Parts: sequence; C-alpha cells; structure tokens
Amino acid sequence: MASGNKNKNSKFELNDQLEQEKDNEAPPMAEDEKISAASSPLQEMTTISKHHFGGIEDGLSISIIENMKEEYGLFVWPCSIILAEYVWQKKSLFSGANVVELGAGTSLPGLVAAKVGADVTLSDDSHRSEVLENMRRVSDLNDLNCKVLGLTWGVWDTPIFNLHPNIILGADVLYDTSAFDDLFATVTFLLQKSPNSVFITTYHNRSGHHLIEFLMEKWGLKCAKLLDGFSFMPSQKTSSLSGNIQLAEIVLDAARSE
Ligand SMILES: C[S@@+](CC[C@H](N)C(=O)[O-])C[C@H]1O[C@@H](n2cnc3c(N)ncnc32)[C@H](O)[C@@H]1O
Repeated sequence: MASGNKNKNSKFELNDQLEQEKDNEAPPMAEDEKISAASSPLQEMTTISKHHFGGIEDGLSISIIENMKEEYGLFVWPCSIILAEYVWQKKSLFSGANVVELGAGTSLPGLVAAKVGADVTLSDDSHRSEVLENMRRVSDLNDLNCKVLGLTWGVWDTPIFNLHPNIILGADVLYDTSAFDDLFATVTFLLQKSPNSVFITTYHNRSGHHLIEFLMEKWGLKCAKLLDGFSFMPSQKTSSLSGNIQLAEIVLDAARSE
C-alpha cells in the first residue's frame, strides 16, 4: 500500500520531538491528537497533529506539522480532513494515479493519496516559501517522497507544463472569490492536458452552489458528483468539524469541448 514510501534519511532539521513522532507510529484512534513541538524559538507555536484513517489492522496514520503563527497560517482546515477521508475511502482510485494537490497548505489529502500509492505533487502559492518548506518536512516526516512545487493559480510558469495529473485535489481553495477565476483557469488547463482527469474539491458552501455553477459553465466544466461532506465521514471524526462543507468532483464538459 505504501508505494510512495522512502527510506528514513531526513533531509531537514527536525528536532528530537519530531524525530520521535516519526518513529512512534500510534495505532489508529477515534480522535485526532495534537502535541506541542515548541522546544526552540524557531519552532515556537508548532504542533504536530496525528490523523488516522481506517482501522487498526488496515489503517494508516499521517502526522502533520502545523504552525499557528498568524503569518504562517499552517492549519489543517476542516475541508482538508474531509477530503483526506474521501481519498482514503476511494483509495483504489488513487493507487497508481498521478495526483496534484493545489493550495495544499499542510497537505493532508495529498499525503493520504501518496500513502495509498499515488505519485503526488503538493503545490501552493509560489510566494509562500514557508508553506512549501513545511510540505517538504511533512512529506519527509511521513516517509513519503512527494514532489513539492510552487504553483500560483493563473500563473503559467514552466513546471505546470510538466504536470499530467489524473486527479487534482483542492481542499478549501474556494474561499476568496477574487481568486476563483485564476483557480479555475489552472484547473481547466490541467484537466485539458489529461483525458478523463478529475478535480476533486471540498469547500464551505456559504452562499449556495450557484457561483461554482457559474464558474463551471464559464470554463467549460461540469460537476460529475456533489456530496455533503459529512455524509461519508465516520461519526467519531465529525465532532470537531462544523459548517456546510461540500465535496464536488468536477470534469471537463465534453459537450462543450467538441
Ligand atoms: C484555506 S487554505 C487551505 C489549505 C489546505 N488545503 C487545507 O485545507 O488545510 C488555502 C490555501 O490556498 C493557498 N492559496 C491561496 N491563494 C493561492 C494562489 N493564488 N495560488 C496558489 N495557492 C494559493 C494558500 O496558500 C493556502 O495554503
């Protein structure tokens, strides 16, 4: 299952507590846990949260480094927890897939995809070096070999032309309406490059689905699946989550591209 795994040579300077976390795989538990990793001024306000998927025998666990410092904003947002659970439950689709996560932040869904055998590129705003650095650290911490890429939506730097994802992931990337067109431009570009590819996104449905519908129509996309984000969540994981979170699978509208 863990075909994305790599050996344990850490490329990054994690403190002793981080290393200990890496070596102590905890059994799956009902509630996610957080421990403080603030043992030096550099790692002030850093915590490691553990996220469990599946059962004790057949499940897996992912450790995420979060940083509560305001300018870092490295949190695991609820949309990410829901999308990661979906990836786990659909793991057969992800095994062997080429996956790009957009606006990945702390990257939980992409890391689950890598654990179940996907070839994963984690991406975020190319100006946010602290986020990109944290992605390298969480990939390493979980013994994964994810690629990390600065990819700003609506910007056509060379590396985007080398991406050929079957599955594009995006958790809580639809929150700033001024960035929607840039995001959809990037998503449409990637969907057009790989036949039968899909964009799977979770978002807070604050004002109805009509804005997303408008954007899909504008960009020649359509919704192939729309789910209440809580409909597939194990009940023990929902107590810390709130809001009206939806999951959409978005594909090219073939009728429009003819
Ligand atoms: C609300 S956070 C969600 C983070 C993560 N997916 C999660 O759910 O925990 C939005 C993410 O989108 C990224 N982002 C915002 N604008 C972006 C842009 N124009 N291009 C690329 N990434 C962007 C942010 O850096 C941030 O990591």
